[in-house]
Amino acid sequence: MNTLELCAYGPVIPVIVLQRVEDAVPVAQALVQGGVRVLEVTLRTPVALRCLEAIAREVPQAILGAGTVRSAADARAALAAGACFAVSPGYTEAVGAACADLALPLLPGVATASELMAAQDGGHHFVKFFPASAAGGIPLLKALAGPFPEVSFCPTGGITPQNARDFLALPQVKVCGGSWLTPQDAIAAGDWPRITRLAQEAAALR
Ligand code: 3PG
Repeated sequence: MNTLELCAYGPVIPVIVLQRVEDAVPVAQALVQGGVRVLEVTLRTPVALRCLEAIAREVPQAILGAGTVRSAADARAALAAGACFAVSPGYTEAVGAACADLALPLLPGVATASELMAAQDGGHHFVKFFPASAAGGIPLLKALAGPFPEVSFCPTGGITPQNARDFLALPQVKVCGGSWLTPQDAIAAGDWPRITRLAQEAAALR
């Protein structure tokens, strides 16, 4: 798989933070039911790898990725847990090389022209723009399109249902990432219908 293929499934990739293994499968099912199949489970909690394993095992419709991949070890663990792609908040040659060795497609994060050039040297022409809003939002994306017309972006960080359409209207933006589809209070309350509703709304953004 090429990470650009992830964009074919819908306009939003949910960034999911799970605190309890038992929430993993119902959260993934709720998103899939709402029409969102590409899922990024962040390696940000002690249970993240077990959550990936559970989703990989029990929700075959999900196209499952691991987020917050910051090292070669993270990449290896993500693949072993069942992730079929990786997302990193930034780009390092070490993470790029590890993912290449593992044949684990990587969506690397960049926020500047230099980082983008490094990611391109590593063969990445589809990148996460992170943290999108804090780093400069739409004006920065438009500015980067000048010297980097061939690059596609997944803005993530500060994307909301209100501003997602504006980001998605840019030709270089193929998909957005965001945590708003899986609010922590909805997960804690087991409010799966709310997550399905948020997924349906996100899937309809474009
Ligand atoms: C993150 O790293 O948490 C993601 O970028 C999501 O950001 P968000 O919570 O602003 O959507």
